Amino acid sequence: MSFPKDFLWGGAIAANQYEGAWLEDGKQPNVTDVLVGIMSKDPGIQWNEDKKKYEMKLNSDKVYLSHDAVDGYHRYREDLKLMKGMGFNSFRTSIAWGRIFPNGDELEPNEAGLAYYDDMFACMNELGMEPVITLSHYETPLHLITEYGGWSNPQLIDFWLRYVKTVFTRYKGKVKFWLTFNEVNALFRMPLVAGGVLTIKDPKDPSDPIGSTTKQDQWDAYHNILVANAKTVQLGHEISEDYQIGCMMTASSVATYPYNCDPLNVVGTLDAQRMNIFFMADPFCLGIVPTYLKKVWKEDQVNVEFSDEELKLIKENTVDFLSFSYYRSTTFDRDVNLKVDTGGLTCRDNPYLKDKAPQPWGWAVDPVGLRYTLNVLYDRYHLPLLIVENGVGLDENIDEKGEIHDDFRVHYIEEHLKNVNDAIEDGVDCRGYLYWGPIDVVSAGTGEMKKRYGFVYVDRFNDGHGTLERKLKDSYYRYKEIIESNGEVL
Ligand code: BG6
Repeated sequence: MSFPKDFLWGGAIAANQYEGAWLEDGKQPNVTDVLVGIMSKDPGIQWNEDKKKYEMKLNSDKVYLSHDAVDGYHRYREDLKLMKGMGFNSFRTSIAWGRIFPNGDELEPNEAGLAYYDDMFACMNELGMEPVITLSHYETPLHLITEYGGWSNPQLIDFWLRYVKTVFTRYKGKVKFWLTFNEVNALFRMPLVAGGVLTIKDPKDPSDPIGSTTKQDQWDAYHNILVANAKTVQLGHEISEDYQIGCMMTASSVATYPYNCDPLNVVGTLDAQRMNIFFMADPFCLGIVPTYLKKVWKEDQVNVEFSDEELKLIKENTVDFLSFSYYRSTTFDRDVNLKVDTGGLTCRDNPYLKDKAPQPWGWAVDPVGLRYTLNVLYDRYHLPLLIVENGVGLDENIDEKGEIHDDFRVHYIEEHLKNVNDAIEDGVDCRGYLYWGPIDVVSAGTGEMKKRYGFVYVDRFNDGHGTLERKLKDSYYRYKEIIESNGEVL
């Protein structure tokens, strides 16, 4: 095996899926607090006709598990110790923007929120785990969305930079690796969550806030996010020479294979890759806004213009590394609609893939697709790569002996890691593997507890009950062996 000695071995979670305490110590709601699953078309917000704006109105029939999540807010010290028990030398989580600036537009930060992450990062440092910190993992403060229209409004850039400057300054010396926006290339798939976009002036159907979001809003958000990302990189480098600022993409769509050799399927595949990842990753990593977008903007009947100054800023402030999630591959067949969920795109089943994750989610399993993805991204960007999400969600139960045998997860990880090794041998500069959800958290896509990714089980269920007790699964011990041997046991 060829894993470098300083390879980052660890896991990744996000504040909104792990912490809970959604209104504690001054925090105000963020966008995921009003959704049961980020793919949901039915957010807990309602149009107030008198005030002519959206307001939070949670649906009383739904269980918003993320409000308490797995109580990470109060248990991170014990959980981080469990992670260290597997030998983690790195750990990824996000800062909930709304703990630092509860509504997003305050002038001064919330000290309680800052103190919380101070201790969490100190704890990681004490345990010898490199913090890898996402600045926004679908966590735009709700107020910025309902009051300002979210990222379609250029004012968000200033609010964002105030937040970023605050945390870059406060955590200097504790954190070195920063990721800007989680899976931001999903902006068009999930405008409200990944783009934080909402039409707030005359939505065409106020009872359908997501459906009312216009293409112009979405492309304005694209524009503002590109500028914000470049300014974040610039600011980070000014604040600390040690800072490594990366972007974070959902890269499952790189492994989009033409279903057959019909040239129109090949071109359609290229188009799907462009509009699902490269349209966003190219500006972040190469500093260019792709030329094919001019045609797309014409088709979408939108007006998008970058000033010379903005183009220069984007060119001069590309990221230091590219981090990404990879869950599965897909085929592309122009006769079948592409569908999307948190794992990426789906179209027709690939007859060459042997494995599928068990139902009810049944995501295709394609470890070679990870090797392919690493190679494509490295060839294109020549930047260090960091895998910050890969894993499998399973519906698991504790058996009569009190044990959890998650053989499928062990198989999934082993096969994917063998392909990471192959990619490294191909010459790819892959710096680490951070498994998604090393402890059970609330599923982003479906908003349930039943979809578990952890090496550590958490006693909490879809209806909200549970003791929150932690329990180790078989995969915990196997991942430990893999890490201890730097991958040699694979
Ligand atoms: C990624 C997200 O899309 O996929 C995570 O960054 C998410 O937040 C993960 O949890 C797995 O998706 P899901 O829907 O199975 O939780």
